Amino acid sequence: MADPKHKLLFIFLCAMLNLLTTTKATPTYTTTHCTNTTTYAPNTTFQTNLNILFYYFSNNISQSNGYFFSITGFNTDDAVGGLYICRGDITTTVCDQCLTAAVKEIRIRCPNQTEALIWYDECFLRFTNRYFAIDKIVPRANFDDGNISSGVDLERFNQSLHGLLNDLATEAAASLQSKKFAAGDTPVMESMKVYGLVQCTNDLTKSQCETCLRNAIGTLPNGKQGARALLPSCNVRYQLYPFFTLSSSSSSGDSKLGPGTIAVVIVVPVVFLIILFLGCYYFKKSWG
Ligand SMILES: *[C@@H]1O[C@H](CO)[C@@H](O)[C@H](O)[C@H]1NC(C)=O
Ligand SMILES: *[C@@H]1O[C@H](CO)[C@@H](O)[C@H](O)[C@H]1NC(C)=O
Ligand SMILES: *[C@@H]1O[C@H](CO)[C@@H](O)[C@H](O)[C@H]1NC(C)=O
Ligand SMILES: *[C@@H]1O[C@H](CO)[C@@H](O)[C@H](O)[C@H]1NC(C)=O
Ligand SMILES: *[C@@H]1O[C@H](CO)[C@@H](O)[C@H](O)[C@H]1NC(C)=O
Ligand SMILES: *[C@@H]1O[C@H](CO)[C@@H](O)[C@H](O)[C@H]1NC(C)=O
Repeated sequence: MADPKHKLLFIFLCAMLNLLTTTKATPTYTTTHCTNTTTYAPNTTFQTNLNILFYYFSNNISQSNGYFFSITGFNTDDAVGGLYICRGDITTTVCDQCLTAAVKEIRIRCPNQTEALIWYDECFLRFTNRYFAIDKIVPRANFDDGNISSGVDLERFNQSLHGLLNDLATEAAASLQSKKFAAGDTPVMESMKVYGLVQCTNDLTKSQCETCLRNAIGTLPNGKQGARALLPSCNVRYQLYPFFTLSSSSSSGDSKLGPGTIAVVIVVPVVFLIILFLGCYYFKKSWG
């Protein structure tokens, strides 16, 4: 550590490591729908029921496997029904962070509302006083990115995209696990792949999930770099870049990492980080 340049580089690496270990991934907000038909007054039974629902939400995350539905004040005029779902590939920790943000944000964006829906990249949450008449298809939101570059054969792109999404829809609907989720990729042309993700809420039957997903897929525009169809009971998204974590049980398409690649991609940085971490710890102790 005699060379001051080396010491500076080391301090810089330690600072980066510190940033890496303290930064919490913030969930990415997408959109909100406030129905605006009825509001509730403060300190009413409805508000209490909604608070209890949100309390259940935040306390059932670890055992919920990413999906939870509940009704509070059941069989009364002040009943509230609500559900949340986390994206099929994310961890309980990220699910927890997303729901915490969603519960906070939905109160701010739809104050006093008896019905509202909020979407994030990582989770979706809704509540309603009309839980007995929940619609699976509406209200909905669609988003798309800019046009795909002009060199791309749109017909071929559309074929690859719909081939992928239809396969994923079939896979998700038929899933025997509680999660109705599928994600994967397919080549469009040389050095271009399209990545797709579909998910239904766990309560849907196979045919309900399939109906919801086909409806969602049917609303996606052609020739965009990416698009989403967000429905209350299912959602579909595609991009030209990976935006989810593929696990071997929930992927289709041809890209799979071999064990050799995994060793290089995971083990080497981990060993490097451990050495750096120990180095930083020792450094902090001895230089303050
Ligand atoms: C509800 O009201 C807000 C604010 O006035 C508005 O932005 C939003 O579009 C309304 N939602 C619906 C579904 O009409
Ligand atoms: C609601 O209840 C809280 C606590 O009991 C009280 O402080 C507040 O003034 C009440 N608000 C209304 C509008 O009644
Ligand atoms: C989870 O939700 C249920 C209602 O569906 C509730 O009875 C239970 O207390 C909740 N768990 C916790 C730890 O809050
Ligand atoms: C919503 O509730 C707040 C207090 O929580 C109150 O000040 C406001 O007037 C209410 N708005 C509506 C539209 O009821
Ligand atoms: C995107 O493509 C559509 C049709 O292919 C065209 O009408 C539109 O002008 C394009 N938009 C931009 C921003 O290039
Ligand atoms: C894209 O392909 C799907 C499925 O084959 C078809 O339904 C749709 O009409 C096509 N869209 C365009 C713009 O060609």
